[in-house]
Amino acid sequence: MFKSMQWKIVLIFTLLILFSVQFFGVYLLQEIEEYYLKDFSTALESQGELLASFLKRHLVDKQAEMYIHDLVKGFGHQAGTEIMVLDSFGRVISSTSEDPELLGQRIVQQEVTRALTGTKSEDLRIIPDTNQRTKYLALPVKAGQDVVGVVYQVGSLESIDNTLQQIRVILMTGALLVLSVTAFLGFALAQTITRPIREITFKAEILASGDFSQQIKINEEDEIGQLGKMFNHLAFQLDDTLQEIYAEKSKVESILNYMTDGILAYNRQGRLIHINPAAKMMLGLNDKKSEEEWTRKLLEELFPEEDMWLVLEEEKQLAKEFTRKEKEMILKAFFAPFKTKEGSLTGVLIVLHDITGDRKLSHLQQEFVANVSHELRTPLTTIKSYVEALINGAMHDKEIEEKFLRVVEDETDRMTRLVQDLLILSQLDYRQVRWNKQLVDLNTLVKEVFEQIMVDLQEGQILWKIKIPEGMPPLYVDKDRIKQVFLNLLSNARQYTPQGGKIILEAEEEFQEIKILIEDTGCGIPPEDLPRVFERFYRVDKTRSREYGGTGLGLSIARQIVQAHGGEMFIESAPGEGTRVSFTLPGFKDSEKTGGEQCGGKT
Ligand SMILES: Nc1ncnc2c1ncn2[C@@H]1O[C@H](COP(=O)(O)OP(=O)(O)OP(=O)(O)O)[C@@H](O)[C@H]1O
Ligand SMILES: [Mg+2]
Repeated sequence: MFKSMQWKIVLIFTLLILFSVQFFGVYLLQEIEEYYLKDFSTALESQGELLASFLKRHLVDKQAEMYIHDLVKGFGHQAGTEIMVLDSFGRVISSTSEDPELLGQRIVQQEVTRALTGTKSEDLRIIPDTNQRTKYLALPVKAGQDVVGVVYQVGSLESIDNTLQQIRVILMTGALLVLSVTAFLGFALAQTITRPIREITFKAEILASGDFSQQIKINEEDEIGQLGKMFNHLAFQLDDTLQEIYAEKSKVESILNYMTDGILAYNRQGRLIHINPAAKMMLGLNDKKSEEEWTRKLLEELFPEEDMWLVLEEEKQLAKEFTRKEKEMILKAFFAPFKTKEGSLTGVLIVLHDITGDRKLSHLQQEFVANVSHELRTPLTTIKSYVEALINGAMHDKEIEEKFLRVVEDETDRMTRLVQDLLILSQLDYRQVRWNKQLVDLNTLVKEVFEQIMVDLQEGQILWKIKIPEGMPPLYVDKDRIKQVFLNLLSNARQYTPQGGKIILEAEEEFQEIKILIEDTGCGIPPEDLPRVFERFYRVDKTRSREYGGTGLGLSIARQIVQAHGGEMFIESAPGEGTRVSFTLPGFKDSEKTGGEQCGGKT
């Protein structure tokens, strides 16, 4: 309790007043006592001397005892004072006391003995019976050089002591009163100082627990008021700064969480302090322990200490590429240090960038350019060699000339087809195709396509079958483009199916979608090639495909057209048994029901 400032102030105040009152009281009492005692002594002395001067002549005369007695009795002395006249032997001749036994008694007190030798002597003693201070004064009565007697006075200091006691009581009461008033005033004063301090302390505690809305009511403009004002300002500033920090933190967290690049942050000791979801995904990390171990190893392997110094001291950029075989991912790791305001190193960051896509794309682009150049060069070389042969004389032979010109025409057609295909692909890529959508009856469309390839089918002695159930809804598609899809798929089926093979075209309605299946009994596609047949220029058997004039773009164009219509295309195949290509197209509601089944075959 006495630790509190309030009590300390009260205690200091009280002690201060107590000491002052005590000091003042003691000093005052001493002075008063001294004054009274001096006054009393002076009175005794002058009274004694007066009596001695009267007695002198009688004491010389030994017969004058009666006179002495009368003189002593009649001497107006101070109240409470006893006067004794002693002869030159110290015996009591006369006394103001009523005690008859006193007369003739010899007084042997030291002051009397000394007075008998001619020296005035006095003493202050406490009478044990009454416990009262008493003043003793012995004055020698001299006749010439001889001491003829002694006036011995015994004066009680009772009245002086009583007076002093009264003063003491008054002083004590006053001191007590002053002390209580001081304690009360001290308490009140301490309250006015400590109350606002206590309030500030209380609010500071709430502030420390995170509630920054605390404000202090300012009543005075004094130092405490200033402190309160500063507190309010501090709370406001803190709140403001913390809000800013929170906003900044959540912004940074959102950026880190939603960015596609991986971020790993390490402290100075190389311990992982932050990892964002993208980094976890790229590194395939899912539990905390492996995260710690793995990321530490990653830092040590990618950026050994000597490399780090290059970055820290020479401020060089560090970036390294590494592959994650499990995920077939190529990652580029950038190393960046982060520092305090003063420039000392706090930790390091690794930024992971997935460059797999970029690499694949650039690889595809290179492959594409190489393929296009190759596909164009081959017919051009053929044309050039045939034209040269014609110039060199072959044109004079009509039969050879026509044959050679046919080859040139074929190769030109092939080039034109290739350029057209490339054009379609680039239009599809850049979404520049103008889709001329209309309601198309599937049966009619299929019939038209089959008419186009009929000669081919007949030449190859291929059996064919169309299974389209009745009541199929019409398609809402770009007729020419979808026709091209059918043509590309059917010509593939025709090309890769040997003589006597079979092609079946089936259609079915599935969840408001039209699913079309084109199945053949051809050579099929090996499983390792199957995932790549939709790639541009990909052909399983290049020489064989080229014989048919294929460039490897047919499937890729067909799938892109289907996808542009909101459908999807799949391919299944078993080598030696056949291939099945299926694709979906969105159906059209409220349509006219048309359909049927047609069968065809070798004619
Ligand atoms: N029905 C099928 N049976 C067997 N192999 C097929 C079949 N359809 C496609 N393929 C294989 O897939 C490859 C790619 O087919 P795609 O139609 O894209 O090219 P292409 O037929 O070679 O040339 P293009 O169609 O451009 O004239 C073909 O080269 C062939 O090897
Ligand atoms: Mg094809």
